[in-house]
Amino acid sequence: MSKQLIVALSKGRILEETLPLLADAGVEPVEDLGKSRKLLFDTNLPDVKLVVIRATDVPTYVQLGAADLGIAGKDVLLEHGAAGLYEPLDLEIARCKLMTAGITGAEPASARRRVATKFVNIARRWYAEQGIQAEVIKLYGAMELAPLMNLADEIVDIVDTGNTLRANGMEPRELIAPVTTRLVVNKASMTMKHARIKPLLERLKQAVAARREDVAG
Ligand code: ATP
Ligand code: PRP
Repeated sequence: MSKQLIVALSKGRILEETLPLLADAGVEPVEDLGKSRKLLFDTNLPDVKLVVIRATDVPTYVQLGAADLGIAGKDVLLEHGAAGLYEPLDLEIARCKLMTAGITGAEPASARRRVATKFVNIARRWYAEQGIQAEVIKLYGAMELAPLMNLADEIVDIVDTGNTLRANGMEPRELIAPVTTRLVVNKASMTMKHARIKPLLERLKQAVAARREDVAG
């Protein structure tokens, strides 16, 4: 196993909030991630490299050991499954909720419910747990459109302010899970590279705690 530590970062909304936390923990890319078409970056630490990939690919990289550590939303981790991964730290960023939602004022369909989502595993599991028959329809985006177009009765999606739902005549219904961004670690790396991972993990924990104290004033 190589001595390098590869950290897989989710591009998009999580990246902006991740970089300051990593910097507080002493890890800084040597070039501006936003300005480069590169996907693999050196950092100020010679043995730490960053890869910037689709959020949904982060658990795969870490699970299969192509990356030692990863940063991804709990939504993505719940959808992917946790085999081969430790989840030692909640970074407490990108806080939102996984919810069901439907057209405002409409009664939930009583028979087999048509549910549009990109979180098909989460949705299948949740409706089964509730004892509700559901036909889960996979979409890749703009879930809020599906009930309006009568493609589905409900959706399962991320809700933060609720503005996207409201703007589309929809309302949140049931909470499936609260979501924040998590640090995940490949199980074999945690054993084989423990001496290198542990101090980084500690510094990240301190960075998260310092943020929490700042917010609390
Ligand atoms: P991809 O482009 O790979 O499909 P995506 O568009 O879902 O990913 P982002 O929108 O960048 O990716 O969101 C990444 C993560 O940020 C999500 O997995 C979730 O954990 C969190 N997130 C998404 N929407 C919100 C939101 N409105 N408020 C706070 N956090 C959010
Ligand atoms: C996310 C998510 C919801 C929206 C919820 O979309 O998919 O659509 O945020 O946030 P709100 O409750 O504050 O409106 P995002 O803005 O990331 O765009 P996306 O469709 O590219 O994922």
